[in-house]
Amino acid sequence: MNEKVKAIPPSGIRKFFDMVSEMKDVVSLGVGEPDFVTPWHIREGSIYALEKGHTSYTSNKGMKELREEIAKYAAETFNAPYDPNNILVTVGVSEAFDLALRALLNPNDEVIIPEPCYVSYKPLSYLCNAKPVVIGTKEEDEFELRAEDIEEAITRKTKAIVLNYPNNPTGATLSKKRMNEIANTILQNKIWLISDEIYSELTYDGSHTSFASSEEMRKRMIFLHGFSKAFAMTGFRIGYAAGPEETISLMTKIHQYSMLCAPTMGQMAAIEALRKGKEEMLKMKEEYDQRRKLIVKGLNKIGLNCFMPKGAFYAFPSIKSTGLSSEMFCEELLKKEKVATVPGNAFGRSGEGFIRCSYAASIDEINTALERIEKFINNM
Ligand SMILES: Cc1ncc(COP(=O)(O)O)c(C=O)c1O
Repeated sequence: MNEKVKAIPPSGIRKFFDMVSEMKDVVSLGVGEPDFVTPWHIREGSIYALEKGHTSYTSNKGMKELREEIAKYAAETFNAPYDPNNILVTVGVSEAFDLALRALLNPNDEVIIPEPCYVSYKPLSYLCNAKPVVIGTKEEDEFELRAEDIEEAITRKTKAIVLNYPNNPTGATLSKKRMNEIANTILQNKIWLISDEIYSELTYDGSHTSFASSEEMRKRMIFLHGFSKAFAMTGFRIGYAAGPEETISLMTKIHQYSMLCAPTMGQMAAIEALRKGKEEMLKMKEEYDQRRKLIVKGLNKIGLNCFMPKGAFYAFPSIKSTGLSSEMFCEELLKKEKVATVPGNAFGRSGEGFIRCSYAASIDEINTALERIEKFINNM
């Protein structure tokens, strides 16, 4: 068996879901996926594909129609004009991220990964024989990354940095000022940016600014986005990467051998989402926003300090006042009060002392979870 694969730990999130699956009456703030069913007209996009007999492979890069819609959407929504030929449709952002690393990295290259971060960044970099270099973001900065911390981590071997704003697990976004400073650091040091902007539509205070809105940055970055979160389409498995021609063509080469193409029915649904899905997407966003305010207020009232996240659907309260480790807190809370959350250290060492609470759950579920968390803390 492969030694590298044997050496990587299983995802810390999965361990908790396995425990939850064996229990009854659990209120879950654990999962990182929308609780909404995909809007009906988008589902119909897939049904229509089946009815018409569109059941074969598409071109490796993805349907031309879809890539054209993505190009239009990226230009209109993110002010990021991309040629449809420089867009690759993938099996979720998950595949796009893996391809980006494999296309960019040579053995022993360093890739800077700010933590806490999405669980796959570090293991997938490691599997590329690259060296993940972790830098921590801090609660006092509301988990925004500082350009100085990137500067400090850069060495001659640095090839790329991975950024994810709005962020999973913290819900942080980047201010324009910080973003400009980071962009300058990336450009001056001639490193690559892999920018996972999967939660960009779910930005609540103000609007999302993409790194890809800068022409200079577009030459040094791979922009990743998809349909799982804002359009509630996790099971359709459609994402995409956009970037300079050479990078996308290398990514396509790997994709054509390892994946062939993204699911055809999913691609048809994605076209429908881009053409007619905005209204329903905004409705879901509005609901998340209400839940965000409810959960953050509730957590602070209970005594778990929580900054107001500006994006995604996660609150990231501190549990330091309880004296428990993140894992202990989540395990005990699950066993005693049947509320599922995820320990912050599942997202990296700097997540210790925090828990991730997903508010992709109904208002009733959030209220019940808050009552139970309060009871748990009062009985400690
Ligand atoms: C930051 C981030 N990137 C990527 C993904 C995976 O997305 P997809 O369903 O498009 O593979 C997730 C899913 O939780 C995520 O939180």
